[in-house]
Amino acid sequence: DNAKAQAIAHLQNLLTQHNAVMVAHYYVAPELQDLALATGGMVGDSLEMARFGQNHSAQTLLVAGVKFMGETSKILSPEKTVLMPDLEATCSLDLGCPVDEFTAFCDQYPDRTVVVYANTSAEVKARADWVVTSSIALEIVTFLHSQGKKIIWGPDRHLGSYIQKQTGADMILWQGSCIVHHEFKGLELSLLKEKHPEALVLVHPESPAEVVAQADVIGSTSKLLQAAVNHSAKSFIVATDQGILHEMQKQAPHKQFFAAPTAGDGATCKSCAFCPWMAMNGLQNCISTLEDQSHAVQVSHTTLHAARRSIQRMLDFSA
Ligand code: 13P
Ligand code: SF4
Repeated sequence: DNAKAQAIAHLQNLLTQHNAVMVAHYYVAPELQDLALATGGMVGDSLEMARFGQNHSAQTLLVAGVKFMGETSKILSPEKTVLMPDLEATCSLDLGCPVDEFTAFCDQYPDRTVVVYANTSAEVKARADWVVTSSIALEIVTFLHSQGKKIIWGPDRHLGSYIQKQTGADMILWQGSCIVHHEFKGLELSLLKEKHPEALVLVHPESPAEVVAQADVIGSTSKLLQAAVNHSAKSFIVATDQGILHEMQKQAPHKQFFAAPTAGDGATCKSCAFCPWMAMNGLQNCISTLEDQSHAVQVSHTTLHAARRSIQRMLDFSA
């Protein structure tokens, strides 16, 4: 409608005026994903977001996603202004891994290499030896295991146990989970597969083991999108936040996508398969953040430098 078109045009002007670029995750509202792409920004998984922000020449990054994504951008580009539509948009994995408790946990095993998922606070990253995202976790743990390293893994236990099974690495797991992916149900998924035996099953590894076990493709949001676009299958069952369906449908318009079940009755519980924190990003708070230059992400000097080391290790590894 007209008001929306005006708001979009206004946001486009603000981005130019402030030499800003939008960096968006696949789970934010479709209109924000489209806007990011239409204005020279990007939409991607968390590793791609980190790289894009670091390599882009804009002075300001508007990060549409959750807090850990904004913090990672700031850590990699301390000289840039990193704005977020809502600084309260966080993640259950970050919330469930407070730095004091995680540090005490790590201190019990001083001989172990500490590997943390990107979905953590800057302080937890500062305590870690390595940061990984879902797109590179398997490769990095395979490498560390080949070097004879024993590992502390945090915070996502589903991703951790999947990697442990795949690599055979000696890993002690922090017991966190993602409130969105944790809800996918194995039994209901198997029933849906029976109904659509031709469909390829795409699963994010934050899902429970009984769901991951039924997957044809396991990976980050970007990897699942690529599979949807490039695989010859005509239909897909998708076990990740439903925000990804927007790009899947855009890039593969003639294919069919079914949401993996989250509820006991076999239906998809929409409130479960959408991340409530990603949903805190909207057109209006993107606009007000840019207008007021408010909601700038801050990371203390010491934390920033320590966290940068463990993030940069991942980026160098995957380069
Ligand atoms: P990706 O790195 O796969 O995009 O995952 C981020 C995330 O928050 C998944 O829930
Ligand atoms: Fe965190 Fe899950 Fe939301 Fe991703 S979907 S930001 S892991 S709560």
